[in-house]
Amino acid sequence: MCGIVGYIGKTNALHVIIPSLQRLEYRGYDSAGIAVIKDGEIRLAKKKGKISELISFVSRIDFPTFSRVGIGHTRWATHGPPSDNNAHPHLECSGKIAVVHNGIIENFSELRKKLEKNHKFTSETDTEVIAHLIEDALKEVGSFEKAFEFAVKQLEGTFAVVSIFSGEPDRILCARYKAPLVIGLWDENGNLVSSDIPSLLIFTKKIIPLSDGEIAIVKENSVEIKKDGFRVERQPIEVPWDAQQAEKSGFKHFMLKEIYEQPHVVVDTTAEFLSRWDELNLGEFQKIIITGCGTSYHAGLLGKLWIEHIAKIPVEVDYASELRYKDYIQKNSLFIAISQSGETADTLEAVRRAKEEGLKVVSLVNVLGSTLSRESDFVLHTNAGPEIGVAATKTFLSQITVLYLLAVFLSGQSRKSKMLYDIQKVPEKIEEVLALSDFIYEISEDVSKLKNALYLGRWISYPVVMEGALKLKEISYIHAEPYPAGEMKHGPIALVSPSTLSVFVAPRDRVFKKTISNLHEVSARHGKVILITTKNTDVKDVWKKIEIPDVEEFLSPFLTVPVLQLLAYHTATILGHDVDQPRNLAKSVTVE
Ligand code: AGP
Repeated sequence: MCGIVGYIGKTNALHVIIPSLQRLEYRGYDSAGIAVIKDGEIRLAKKKGKISELISFVSRIDFPTFSRVGIGHTRWATHGPPSDNNAHPHLECSGKIAVVHNGIIENFSELRKKLEKNHKFTSETDTEVIAHLIEDALKEVGSFEKAFEFAVKQLEGTFAVVSIFSGEPDRILCARYKAPLVIGLWDENGNLVSSDIPSLLIFTKKIIPLSDGEIAIVKENSVEIKKDGFRVERQPIEVPWDAQQAEKSGFKHFMLKEIYEQPHVVVDTTAEFLSRWDELNLGEFQKIIITGCGTSYHAGLLGKLWIEHIAKIPVEVDYASELRYKDYIQKNSLFIAISQSGETADTLEAVRRAKEEGLKVVSLVNVLGSTLSRESDFVLHTNAGPEIGVAATKTFLSQITVLYLLAVFLSGQSRKSKMLYDIQKVPEKIEEVLALSDFIYEISEDVSKLKNALYLGRWISYPVVMEGALKLKEISYIHAEPYPAGEMKHGPIALVSPSTLSVFVAPRDRVFKKTISNLHEVSARHGKVILITTKNTDVKDVWKKIEIPDVEEFLSPFLTVPVLQLLAYHTATILGHDVDQPRNLAKSVTVE
């Protein structure tokens, strides 16, 4: 996916932009480029392929070794194939304005048709129209800022746009509409711009996020934000992450590192929640509505189960992409939105729909300063640290930690201390699960040869198998269908055969026996069964058995989910897939 970086200040722009771009590599891209201003001219270098190729290209050509302002980009092709020409930055006809862009300009063909009469296009991208629009407007209005604002007003779609103009080298202009963009404040060294916070962390943790419809004028010593011509005041926030957290730290993949971080994540998220416990004023409500997408939605399903069982409050969980179309949303409800990125378009639209109905919105967000965190009435920070792997792992555990604690909080006093004691025992048990990694690898060698899998679980293990099946699909590309184990006999049992894998999640809990009966229905039909269960359960007729430590029944997802994450991870790596950048997927989905 595309990434944007910009820098203006005292340091050499090249030495800021290239390392920042390298920290965006995990997002996946097919070309990269950089433009700087030197002696009143824009100097441009762009290359199809990896950033290493751009670096080697820059060293071979006459590219300025020092400049104080520049922008860079990693492109993931949408309009036009990966090529040197289609790589960003794009220039207008005179070569004085450079533009980088993330997102999609939906009206680009109409704009291009008009512009082609007087402008020479050198790429097939939607982005290039922006450069020519600024060029035209600049002739009319004379000021880069006004011309930029005028050009941006003509764009439809989603975009984060960053531009420099050789005639006004003291500024970088930025605009955001439904695609993330943040400004990094690097004290006396200047200021940065990025589409993604982790790329800034080697320079600064102080950021100012932009909101939709805003324009920022970023200079060496100042940042000015405007909306519709009016100045917007916004205080910077300190990101609670450090650069080390966004590195692989010796792990082969970010995903594996993030799976191994989970014991700590549960500790950190619990500490964060308990530190805010006293401020938590959720007001009066009769019902809770939870929304989210993908993994965050699965966390919501577990939240429902805990809140209903522990706090006895009715909960509805809806996919954000569906909730938006509901005619009826019960007014006296508390609305909880869950999102790792805080930038998921569907979730944001669902929140806006809830706000139209006057509901109070509480969000569970991992990225502080994200749009969701700014649009919510109250934020419960999931505190998992930066998650770089596209497949969500540790952030799922952090979300379910918050939801479990929320259920305990909402339950009143009686069971609080026992339940808080129980969750504090969880991290060491997750460590025991992670120690099974080699054993799970051996099983994955066989799983990688299969084409289809059923994931089956009841009650608390049903959201778990939904998450497990999603992980397998996302990174190994093996078809996996989650089903409530009790529903299997109503249809999916027809799929059972020696070549279809059935992954049963059945920890020792109130539904254990019933799930095992379903398992026997599969093994009796020569189905290939992997059983994930608690140690010392006596179940026969399984192909492979993975045993987790004994745990209080409400907390089993903290142990069964990491098993399924490892199963997906090893299967995908055995198949040779790039688990951190699975095909077709983006870390934050800013399209609806
Ligand atoms: C998880 O592995 C996925 N990549 C995806 O389902 C993700 O959970 C979903 O897009 C929601 O993202 P969010 O939590 O950032 O809102």
